[in-house]
Amino acid sequence: MHSAKKIKRIGLFDSGVGGLTVLKELLDLPLTDFIYIADSANAPYGQKTPEQILQFSTSITQFLVTQKIDALVIACHTSSALALPHLQKMFPELLIIGTIIQTMLHTTQQTKNGRIGIMATQASINSHLHKKELLTINPELDVFEVACPKLVPLIETSEKDMQQIEDALQEYLLPLIAQKIDTLILGCTHYPLLAQEIKKIVGDEITLVASEKIIAQTLGAHCIGNSEQQKNITFYATDAPEVFAQKAQLILGAAVAVTHLDLNTYSHSEVESQLNLSNTIL
Ligand code: DGL
Repeated sequence: MHSAKKIKRIGLFDSGVGGLTVLKELLDLPLTDFIYIADSANAPYGQKTPEQILQFSTSITQFLVTQKIDALVIACHTSSALALPHLQKMFPELLIIGTIIQTMLHTTQQTKNGRIGIMATQASINSHLHKKELLTINPELDVFEVACPKLVPLIETSEKDMQQIEDALQEYLLPLIAQKIDTLILGCTHYPLLAQEIKKIVGDEITLVASEKIIAQTLGAHCIGNSEQQKNITFYATDAPEVFAQKAQLILGAAVAVTHLDLNTYSHSEVESQLNLSNTIL
């Protein structure tokens, strides 16, 4: 099984900067090496088909396996909703952690009136995975979903337009508030970047639930060692690495070097030899 001692080198991916909210939390764990992939060439994932999301997630995971990661964090709800079981089947030896299941469990413990709102990408909402998980844990809950297709593009642009963001948030959140929810799931790793703006609209009566701290706790249970060790973080972006670097610097508070990664021309034989190798071990 997944040995606690071996987890030092971790791979994460997202369509863009959203997964950095997760990376930030993982930096406190006793991990030494982080490889972060922003699949900016295919962003936003929320507007893609389930088949495309599965294909992007699989190629990225294949690449990360060649980088000898010990565990994978899918730092993206859309990909967790559509690709997690497939990736777990494809890479049975790899510890893979998604954003949804533990977060939904935590949410059911937070709500007092049993009325929960979910904001997420169009593809996540189409899958209804967040809602299904909540209702599996507690079928008595009232769950209200809203797809927020405007948010990720507004967060990913180099010039943040706060007025447009606020208008979009009003449009998405007012119907949820009208349903008298007491708990709101930020069902996309980009949304914690708008937590202040969301809080301004929903007020103090509604508790926000995001996944990054829950992922860190889940992964932390598999790690041992000293969290003070030096961290090496390698960033790749599949398009416009300089745009990603600028945004990452704002979010992480430090300059980062980002390498362009072309998953189409990435040495296929390297991927295959790695996969064959893991098959022979199995
Ligand atoms: N940050 C992602 C998520 O959690 C991806 C959003 C997107 O690319 O649409 O769903």
